[in-house]
Amino acid sequence: MDAPFLTHRLEALRESGTYRTLPGQRKGVDFWSNDYLGFAHTQRQQGVFASTRVFASIAPGSRLISGDHGDITALEQRIAHFHGHPAALLFGSGYTANLGVLSCLARRNDTIIYDALIHASIRDGIRLSGAAARRCTHNDVEDVRRLLAAASTEGERFVVTESRFSMDGDVAPLRELAEVCAGHGAHLIVDEAHSIGIDGSQGAGLVAELGLQEHILATITTYGKAPAASGATVLGKEALRDYLINFSRPFIFTTGPRPEQLAAIARGYNLLASEQIEARDNLAAVIERFCTNTFYQRVQGPTSQVQGPIQLVYPRGKGHVMDLEADLLADGYLVKGIRYPSVARGEERLRICLHAFNTLEEVDGLCSSLRRHLERRM
Ligand SMILES: Cc1ncc(COP(=O)(O)O)c(C=O)c1O
Repeated sequence: MDAPFLTHRLEALRESGTYRTLPGQRKGVDFWSNDYLGFAHTQRQQGVFASTRVFASIAPGSRLISGDHGDITALEQRIAHFHGHPAALLFGSGYTANLGVLSCLARRNDTIIYDALIHASIRDGIRLSGAAARRCTHNDVEDVRRLLAAASTEGERFVVTESRFSMDGDVAPLRELAEVCAGHGAHLIVDEAHSIGIDGSQGAGLVAELGLQEHILATITTYGKAPAASGATVLGKEALRDYLINFSRPFIFTTGPRPEQLAAIARGYNLLASEQIEARDNLAAVIERFCTNTFYQRVQGPTSQVQGPIQLVYPRGKGHVMDLEADLLADGYLVKGIRYPSVARGEERLRICLHAFNTLEEVDGLCSSLRRHLERRM
C-alpha cells in the first residue's frame, strides 16, 4: 500500500541532515564499538561460547507463564552478588530495562529529575510514567538540589543519571547525588551501561566502587557493551525486584530470556572475573596514548578531556561530522559521527571508542588521519 506520509517524513529528515541508514558490515580498525575490553573481539577469534556451560532449554513464554527457570534465577543471584546488591532482575535489553524501571516506579503525581544528557531509553521511560519531568544541567549537583527543593512533596521524587555517560564519556558525581537525594527523601536511579567492565574492581561499576548500593533505589547494568552479550539487569533490594515483576510492563509482557542469551551473559561475567585485569591494563595504555597525543590535546583542549574509553572530537565548523566519519573510513578507521537527536543540535561530535585490543600504532594512525582531515577543512 502506498503511504506518501512515509516518504514525506523521511524527506524532512534528509533535508535536516539527520537521515539515518544502516551501515552494513564495514571493514576497518574498530574505534566505534562499545567492546571496550575486547571480549567480543576474543569471541570472534575463538568461536562463541567455546568455554561456557550450556543452559537448560526453557519453554518460550513470559517469565510469569512458561519462561521462568531455576537457571535464570541462579544467574540473577550470581549477578546480584557480583555487584554487591541483594537482588537482580534480568531484562531483554538495556532499552527495555530503562523503559521498564522508569515507567513503573514513577507515577502521575511524582517528579523525576533527569540529567540533561541522559540516554533516550530513560527519557522514553520517563514519558511513559506520566510523572512531572525536570531536566537538570549535566552533572550539576546544585541544580539537582534546587529542583528537588522546588518539586512537589505530594508524590515520590526520583533522580536519574548515568554513572559514565554514553555520548560524553564523563562520570556522574554519584556520591554527592546520593547525599542530596538522601537529604530530600528522593530516590536515586543509576544506569551503569558504560561503567560495567570499566569502573570498580572487577569492573562491577561505579556504584559498587563507591559502595553506594544501599543509597540507590535501582542500578541498571547492561550487557551489550563491555560484557559483549545482550540484555540488562536491574539491581536493588528484593522489594524492588518484586515490584518490577508486578508492575513493569516491558518485563511482564515479553518472552523470557533464551538459553543462548543467558550463556552469553554468564560468559561476560566469567571474563570479567578472569581476564579483565589484563584487558583493563591494555585499555589504560591505549587511553593514555590517545589522551597524550598532542594533536588531540590541541583540538580537545585540556579542560574538556575525560579519562576513559569514550573520547570525543568536535569538528566545530570544520565540516559535518558525517563527512569526517566518511574521511576516516576511507583511511581505514571506523569512528562514529554522532548527531541530533542522539546529541543536542550544535553538539555534533565524533565519538571515538578505545579498546583493549587497539594497538598504539592504530591510535597514532587514527590521530594523524584526524589531524589531516581537520586541517584540510580549516
Ligand atoms: C546509557 C545507555 N543505557 C541504555 C542503553 C541501551 O542498552 P541496550 O543496547 O542493551 O538496549 C544504552 C545503549 O546504547 C546506553 O548507552
